[in-house]
Amino acid sequence: MDFSQATPVASRIGWQSPAPVPDGYRFNHFLEASRGRLRAHGLDLAAFFEISPSPGRGLPAEAMPSPLEIAFLPNIRAQVAAMVRCFRRAIDDVGYPAPFHFAFASKANTAEEVVRSTLAAGAHHEMSSDVDVEIARRMIRTGLLPPDRMVLANGFKGPGSAYARNLVALRAEHPRVIPILEDAAELEAFTGSGVDFEFGIRFRRPREEQGVADRDSRFGVNEAEVRRLAARIDETPGSRFVLLHAMFGSASSDEEAFVDALEPGLDLYARLGQSHPHLRFFDFGGGVPGRTTLDRSFDYDRFARLLLHRVLALCAAHGTKPPALIGEFGRYTVSEHAAHLFRIITVKENGSELPWYLVNGSIMTSFPDTWALGEHFICLPLNHLDRPFRRVRLGGITCDRDDVYPPRGSSLPLFLPDLDASDLGETPLYLGFFSVGAYQEMLGGVRGSKHCVLPEATEILIDDDGEGGFRCDILPGHTTEDVLHNLGYGRTARVGAARTTAPVPMG
Ligand SMILES: Cc1ncc(COP(=O)(O)O)c(C=O)c1O
Repeated sequence: MDFSQATPVASRIGWQSPAPVPDGYRFNHFLEASRGRLRAHGLDLAAFFEISPSPGRGLPAEAMPSPLEIAFLPNIRAQVAAMVRCFRRAIDDVGYPAPFHFAFASKANTAEEVVRSTLAAGAHHEMSSDVDVEIARRMIRTGLLPPDRMVLANGFKGPGSAYARNLVALRAEHPRVIPILEDAAELEAFTGSGVDFEFGIRFRRPREEQGVADRDSRFGVNEAEVRRLAARIDETPGSRFVLLHAMFGSASSDEEAFVDALEPGLDLYARLGQSHPHLRFFDFGGGVPGRTTLDRSFDYDRFARLLLHRVLALCAAHGTKPPALIGEFGRYTVSEHAAHLFRIITVKENGSELPWYLVNGSIMTSFPDTWALGEHFICLPLNHLDRPFRRVRLGGITCDRDDVYPPRGSSLPLFLPDLDASDLGETPLYLGFFSVGAYQEMLGGVRGSKHCVLPEATEILIDDDGEGGFRCDILPGHTTEDVLHNLGYGRTARVGAARTTAPVPMG
């Protein structure tokens, strides 16, 4: 993830009025109010916490514990398909003479079910570190990563690194492994290996041309270095320079600004094109936003058309054949598929400006970008949508002052059903954070021990069963014993015993 990104200014993160939500109201393309309850992708989410005599086909009948994480896998496949369609339309409209390739930037969410879903949707695969190589190998073994798929290897992979060594081994199993060099020194790790490679190079714009946030980026090499490295690659038997990578590096809500920021990379591609016979891919990296709030979203169709027009113009100016385009989509692919559901454990009116609604979990450990970057996500109640609302603040149950939502410093309003603590005994209030599927879980840690020793929540993976119903996998949350074990309790007695027989020398 690029921490230098400018946080998009969100304005709508939920319901924004004291009035009840009208029945049938659509918050966005997958969230809708229905008889006082929230439906996401058509599912009544509050029903997960109730015993249901007739759940939808394949959905659990038993009440699930809260907090609860939901991964809705059909959404991932739909996102891939939608972007592929979007570029196909643009290619037809513009008359662009080369293809578009969708790659999933797996750092956004590397869970098995996520990677499996992107590959099932036909995505190429982008990776960034050594463990990723083993993930790719497993996907190859299961047939999900067939030989025609590109494996784009970003990240630092210098000579002697386990990552580079394993990429060489992977190349022996898979014909389309493309290391994208971050640094000139990385080439040696592959050229001496005895295995043929196609290479990419990551271009870094001159310091003065970069936005303030990216100015001192450690990624990529400058134009002179791209030229030297490309020449060295093409002079080396068994090596070909095929791809130029130029990433904007920030989730932008402005399609034009995004394409403008890619222009130096596109221009370099156009100028290099004629002298490098194998060069055929321009990889614009990540940064295409997902829809994490309810605001006007990025116009993907407009972006694709603007990008194709710009590439055509620059390539025409330099007499270069337009490249096949690769996008590495992280947040776009996986933001929307995940939600995290909590119960409000109490309402506390303690003289603070707004009443506190406290959730039975941690906001800051579940969504680290809220406190680290001041980012916003969609937050809506799952029930009581037909009651009056009031403006509130949410607090997690850790002892941390940053464990709040909206994030500290945010002035965005959050409205939830107007209940007091005594109402909650009779009828619980549940709420969900939506579009949290990119980076949040990876940054917060999957199944690790967390702040204030809160256990990992139960997770339910929902997929369609191909016959109009669902298939659910329930991954139980951590027990107290799991957390203690994770933190080394239970080992203490053994360690203590070992120390008495072999004391560690002091000083
Ligand atoms: C090289 C590279 N490609 C793709 C991505 C994915 O970016 P995003 O999640 O904005 O699509 C990143 C994120 O940092 C990246 O570093």
